[in-house]
Amino acid sequence: MTPTHKLLLLPGDGIGPEVMNEVRRVIDWMGMRRDVGFEVADGLIGGAAIDAEGTPLSDETVARAKESDAVLLGAVGGPKWDNLEFDIRPERGLLRIRKDLNLFANLRPAVVFAALADASSLKADLVRDLDILIVRELTGGIYFGKPSSIEVHADGTRRGVNTLVYTTPEIRRVARVAFELARMRDRRVCSVDKANVLETSVLWREEVQRLRDANYADIELSHMYVDNCAMQLIRDPKQFDIILTDNMFGDILSDEASMLTGSLGMLPSACLGDAVATGRRFAVYEPVHGSAPDIAGQGLANPLAALLTFAMALRYSFEMIADAENIETACHDVLDEGLRTADIMEVGKNQVSTSEMGAAVLRALDRLAT
Ligand code: IPM
Ligand code: MG
Repeated sequence: MTPTHKLLLLPGDGIGPEVMNEVRRVIDWMGMRRDVGFEVADGLIGGAAIDAEGTPLSDETVARAKESDAVLLGAVGGPKWDNLEFDIRPERGLLRIRKDLNLFANLRPAVVFAALADASSLKADLVRDLDILIVRELTGGIYFGKPSSIEVHADGTRRGVNTLVYTTPEIRRVARVAFELARMRDRRVCSVDKANVLETSVLWREEVQRLRDANYADIELSHMYVDNCAMQLIRDPKQFDIILTDNMFGDILSDEASMLTGSLGMLPSACLGDAVATGRRFAVYEPVHGSAPDIAGQGLANPLAALLTFAMALRYSFEMIADAENIETACHDVLDEGLRTADIMEVGKNQVSTSEMGAAVLRALDRLAT
């Protein structure tokens, strides 16, 4: 068996390394049981990289990420680095890898697991079988627009500036991703903007509509203002299939959508770029949950989001759909068996540690593979 797929693991901070360990076990399992070889390398990001390399993401790690077929990220940040200057905080590592690899499309599924429907803060009926995919623009908009600064004026007052800017190619390439994904789902895209106030949003709306009319007439496209969308997500979340939106709206709406599912500890995400010369595309996969420093190192973290993140990598970077589905099924199975990590614990269920949950997923995979 020769290794065919190059993976770079960036476990990061807090619970990142713990949940990544469970991913390693599944990678090893795949080598043994499915004869799929991954060439696995490790790197540093976030606080771990600040401590060891003096920067939240080194040039060398960026170069290694570019040579990999996919990057799996854990989580970044923690109180230890909270007081650092803005430019060298752990989150900067995240923003840098997105920007340097040109990962303009961020896929954030919000899926409700049947076994967890009661854990949502909404009534179970409203969220049962919920399956939304948020496609968030990730390398443009107000996150990266220039000028951006805090100016100090002669009279001592200060002025903070950020710039919200989008160009037609930036809008069209992420919209294309949403429309292509819609063809594998329910063929409905809701594009979310603030076109009643912002020029960038007027442009966004026009370009998305044009692209749909020219190339994706089979997709049902609707438009919604972001404030209304925030409300509709709580009122009737199942009306959505794919939500396509800009960087900042997507940041906010994806947190909201994730909470509908009852547990952040269950959600994966993918950041995708354009196909490069080799035919593959740069991609970074990360669980939606953060580094949770308060529970780090205690075996309390839920590894399922990280495992589902690996499944997403199999699906989008390696076209290993059957293997991705097996991992997803295995994650469902362990919940159906009543196993719960602390974050999703309910009365009458069986609380297990991070590694016990990982082991249960491996057993479920064994069953599925035979
Ligand atoms: C996210 C996070 C990041 C973002 C932060 C940590 C920079 O909130 O991935 O949603 O705002 O994009
Ligand atoms: Mg966010």
